[in-house]
Amino acid sequence: MYINFWYPVACCEEVTNAAPLRVRILCLDFVAFRDSSGVAHVLSDTCIHRGGALGNGKVKGDCVECPYHGWQYDGAGRCTVIPSLGKQEKPPARAKVDSYPVQEKYGIVFAFLGDLPEADRPPLYEIPEYDDPAWRANKLKVFEVNYYYERSVENGLDPAHNEFVHPKQGTPGMMQGFRDKPIAIDDIGAFGSKFMMPFTQVKADEGLMAGQFERNASQLEGGSGHFGPNALITWLHLGNGNDFHQYFYEAPIDENSTRIFFVNMRHFMLDAKHDQRIMDINMEIAQEDIDLLEVLNPVRTPHSTNKELLVPADKPVVRYREYLQQWEQNGWRIDLRRLREIRGDVAVAIPGPQRRAEKNWVLDEVPLVGK
Ligand code: FES
Ligand SMILES: [Fe+2]
Repeated sequence: MYINFWYPVACCEEVTNAAPLRVRILCLDFVAFRDSSGVAHVLSDTCIHRGGALGNGKVKGDCVECPYHGWQYDGAGRCTVIPSLGKQEKPPARAKVDSYPVQEKYGIVFAFLGDLPEADRPPLYEIPEYDDPAWRANKLKVFEVNYYYERSVENGLDPAHNEFVHPKQGTPGMMQGFRDKPIAIDDIGAFGSKFMMPFTQVKADEGLMAGQFERNASQLEGGSGHFGPNALITWLHLGNGNDFHQYFYEAPIDENSTRIFFVNMRHFMLDAKHDQRIMDINMEIAQEDIDLLEVLNPVRTPHSTNKELLVPADKPVVRYREYLQQWEQNGWRIDLRRLREIRGDVAVAIPGPQRRAEKNWVLDEVPLVGK
């Protein structure tokens, strides 16, 4: 798991000024709420007084109030009220929690969980066709799975599993001869990579929405990519402009579970009456992956390429792991082993950008590999 990327926190409508929302991401807790002008904020959940969970408190005006002794924190994480000090005394400078940059897009509240200044931040991966009337977005689908997010992303980057795991999808014949025809991988900016390749359908009358539209067998192509450690995109082109583009923004909850925010875009069958059926089929396919991924061993992706026997079809996975290594060298990888050791004795937080400008923080920073 890595700091310094954008993570999906919640659906926009879950974040309100009626009550704060407590969310676990990257093994740590966060609180999300809206202030009186409707702006969403995401803060570290741990009250720096004596460890109250801010997410279990209340929203008061522009602040979230700790349920234990009523300390109030504004959207920037600054404590503005300490009731027990009385009205005269201002909260000390150290009374602050980490606050994270937020943006709302595609019905999702995203937070940048890290301390990089704005100019250096990896961007959020955007959906270029989201507002294009020639495309239709399904209703945002959020689901939780019991496996590590990197295993989930790697599964999406794997062209060789389809005919074994998803045989009902017309037996997509993408898997032959990856040594002779190596997968061509392109980088996406400085933080991602992708591939596209033609495929054939052994049973052309089967598969996603079979019989509902005119395929063009000579134009079938599919591919996928990742951006950052936790955004996965798949492109499926069934010919004649019948395209699906699927975006999975993944939030690692902890070492064993992941929350996935899924936006499905389609360039055909735009009528709303198809929405439910298309989502049902997508979730049926997802379930085939889920059943498989829940029992992978080891649970977490090995951070080496020699503890699994990788072959040419795994090239996109290898490229993803190279990026992960790069981000580890940047000092962005959370040291899960050390975090496990100290958990229960020490509260920590992901450092927010404000830590670069100000010292004097109560909570330690989450342990990072190499730091
Ligand atoms: S623990 Fe939060 S106000 Fe005391
Ligand atoms: Fe799959």
